[in-house]
Formats: sequence, C-alpha cells, structure tokens
Amino acid sequence: MSWRRLLVMAVLASGCGGTPQVRVSDVENPAVLEHYLGLMVGGDPYTLGVLSGSDRGYVIDADRLATRRSGLDRLLNRYLDRRHLEWDSLLNFAAAAYDRIRQMPDHVDQLHKDLPADEVLMFEVHGPMTRYLRRITIPKSALHQALNAFSLNRRQLVYPIGTTIVARHLDDSVPVETTAMYKRPDGYWEFGTYDRAGRRVAATHANPRALVTPKQCVGCHLGTRLFEPEKSFPAPAPAGPDGVRHWYTSARDPVVTQLFSEHERRSDTVLGLYATVYVTDLLQARQSGIIAQEEARLLTDLGL
Ligand code: HEC
Repeated sequence: MSWRRLLVMAVLASGCGGTPQVRVSDVENPAVLEHYLGLMVGGDPYTLGVLSGSDRGYVIDADRLATRRSGLDRLLNRYLDRRHLEWDSLLNFAAAAYDRIRQMPDHVDQLHKDLPADEVLMFEVHGPMTRYLRRITIPKSALHQALNAFSLNRRQLVYPIGTTIVARHLDDSVPVETTAMYKRPDGYWEFGTYDRAGRRVAATHANPRALVTPKQCVGCHLGTRLFEPEKSFPAPAPAGPDGVRHWYTSARDPVVTQLFSEHERRSDTVLGLYATVYVTDLLQARQSGIIAQEEARLLTDLGL
C-alpha cells in the first residue's frame, strides 16, 4: 500500500475529510438551533441526522445539510472559524439562509387571502413588541383545531400546519406595518415582517426598538422569558417602560386562564392569549344563551 493511500485512510479514520462535522460553540438556546436547522432541512434536524448533541455540545453534519438543501454547506463555510461555528455566526448564517428557505409570501395581501371575515378571530393588545396597538387575526378553524386537540396533545395548544397568524400594527387606527407567523408543512413557524405598503422588510419600525427578522423574533418566541401583559393576566398589567401593556378583552376568567396557562406554556411558539380570551367569550355567550352548537360542544369537551 502506498504512503499516499495510507495517509488518506488515516485522515478518513480520524473523521476529517469524510463528514465535515461542525461544532457549534456556546449554544445559548438549543431550541433556536433546532428551529433554524429544521427550517433549513424541512424537518426535525435530529431525526434527519443533520444535528446531534446535548448540553455538552452540538454538532452540525454539513454533508447531510448539503444533501437536504444544496448550497447551504457553502454558505455555512463562510461563517466557520476552522471547524467551529460561534453562536453569533450561527445566527448570522441562519439570517443569510432565511431568504433561500422562506415560504411566506412576498406581499402582505397574500396572508389570509380567501378567508372570509367571519372565519377570522380578532384580538387587540398593547404588548412588548411595539408601542403601536397590535390587531392580531387567527383563522377560527385553526384555533378550533388547537382547542379540539387540547386533551389529546396533553394540554398543549398545537396549531395545524398551514396556520398563519397576522398582527397588524395600528397607528391611530391606520395600519403601518405587519408581523406574521406561518406554520410550514415541516412543522416549524416562519417569521415575517411587512411594511406599510405590504412589502417584506428586514425589521419592524423602531417604536421603540426595531425588531430584526427573524433573529429577534425567535429570541422571544423560542425563549422562556415571560412578558407583560400576559404574565399578569387575568390581573391588569402595570405599564411598561415604553407605555401601556393591555389585552383588550370583554371578560377575564381565572379558571380559563389557569386551564390553558397559555403564555407560560407557550406550547407552540405562540405567546398570545387567544384560547384564553376566546373560550372566556364563549362561556359568556353560553351564559347569555347565544352560543352555537359546535362551540357549546367545544366547551363541554374542555370540561367547562
Ligand atoms: C420582546 C419579545 C418579542 C419579540 C422580540 C417578538 N415578539 Fe412576537 N410576540 C411577543 C408577545 C409577548 C406576543 C403576544 C402578544 C402580542 O402580540 O404582543 C407576540 C405575538 C406575536 C404574534 C402573534 C402570535 C403569537 O405568538 O401570539 C406574531 C405573528 C408575532 N409575535 C410575530 C413576531 C415577529 C415577526 C417578530 C420579529 C420581527 C416578533 N414577533 C418579535 C413577543 C415578542
């Protein structure tokens, strides 16, 4: 056997030159790492063998990444420090990859297109994302499906694939920008921001802070920090440093709030109190004798 051949075999046996294993250093949030790689490869990156590891260290298999999505390995290479990917570089790599992997439409008019107005549920809140009033819309069928499967999903609210949640920012009732989340066929939520004209943009208005998409979106949505006004609900929240924090609801119910623990549990990356507010409204409707049969059944199934 020639020395050259021996050298090749030694290199392969040592693991380099075969599968390029990229170690990610100082992983601040494993959920964010899984989220980004999941979006890149269109499925659970652990099951697909693209990501492995535990708290002691995470490794990306760049070859498998390339097999699932060609070209991403070359993009990844630009962010490497030898075989290492620093946490900040991972975030920058993911931001650069986002444009190649996104599925959300380019224009805001495409969101909730073809959905009749009475098929959409509307909520309003002053929250931590912006000083503008946020008007959030969710397809009624999506919330119904999440509620119907609540027990089956071990008290988690899981939205169906294809759900889009749209949040318009209103300045004195005038829509000035939109943020949205779309649950893709691979099960991962994608984040998007649109400007006043409805075009996709990189960040929200600095009111008071510009939120860079998707970097800052996943920071909160995949993190564990609790925010006002959800944290205090059903009690009213104190005003934040940037102004009022409030869910505009007709009624608040401690039992329903506790049942879903929606913000704290954040079962599906979703932070708002949609089930809590909607089901409380249904209880009121039942009390007033104006509830539809399907909705009355929903309450009974929830044990309410
Ligand atoms: C400071 C933390 C924070 C950041 C950063 C953030 N969000 Fe949110 N987001 C929330 C909270 C809390 C809610 C629930 C109530 C609300 O709308 O204020 C929410 C709600 C939403 C909703 C409605 C669905 C849900 O989860 O309740 C969408 C859509 C959304 N955010 C998109 C985005 C996008 C897009 C970005 C990035 C541009 C982003 N968010 C950044 C905290 C955050």
